Amino acid sequence: MTTNVRDLRRWKSEGTKFTMLTCYDYSTARWLDRAGIPVLLVGDSLGTTMLGYPDTLSVTMDDMIRHAGAVVRGAPAALVIGDMPFMAYHASAEDAIRNAGRFLQEARVAAVKMEGGGRVIDYTKQLTAMGIPVMGHLGLTPTFVNQFGGYRVQGRSDEAAEQILDDAKALEEAGAFAVVLEAIPSALGERVTQALTVPTIGIGAGPHCDGQVLVIQDVLGLNPDHVAKFVRQYARLGEAIEAAARQFDQDVRSGAFPTPEHEYSAR
Ligand code: KIV
Repeated sequence: MTTNVRDLRRWKSEGTKFTMLTCYDYSTARWLDRAGIPVLLVGDSLGTTMLGYPDTLSVTMDDMIRHAGAVVRGAPAALVIGDMPFMAYHASAEDAIRNAGRFLQEARVAAVKMEGGGRVIDYTKQLTAMGIPVMGHLGLTPTFVNQFGGYRVQGRSDEAAEQILDDAKALEEAGAFAVVLEAIPSALGERVTQALTVPTIGIGAGPHCDGQVLVIQDVLGLNPDHVAKFVRQYARLGEAIEAAARQFDQDVRSGAFPTPEHEYSAR
């Protein structure tokens, strides 16, 4: 059975915590689906994790659709969500509708995510009315990096906290089926979670959120750079890759690989 957006609301009402991981390719999607991860986000973090950009701003809809389609093909049981990249919905409601529609039609994701409050609340209402489920994203929204002056915790002042709470309520009212809360104080994560009937999914937003999301490179230890404080690494695959590649290189140089049993004629 494939996870759907109604399952998330049910889990919240039952008090069942759940996970979401980012995913960008077919091969990883197959493993995450086998692991039973119910929700996969094809995040625009694709830009930094897979495409080598310094931030997410250069990611295009074409990039997202190609990777999202691969994840959908690899994860038949997961709810796969496509992250609307910078400028996919910034100029107009028409852009938001066209690009969200492309995500469902071309990549066959089941829902889209958009960052921020403001006009996004109106777009959420419009997309939901057209049968396109929307996940909200508040707090440290990475496409606002230039506005925020870096990647910093959001919602620290009373005023900023109230704004996030109001935006979250407005997104729920507009039809959002879940809201990601990124890098906000744990107490605010708890307040927002209690105020909503739809689930919150936290990343650096404390333990009270209904679900937790992490970037897959961080979870697997594939990120050789600085890892944020809120991350837990569950494997050290980067080091395993390096060791395997070194061994292969050494074996070829020494003549230890290939041996006669690797020849086609040996089968
Ligand atoms: O793009 C992304 O990976 C995200 C998650 C961090 C929520 O938006």
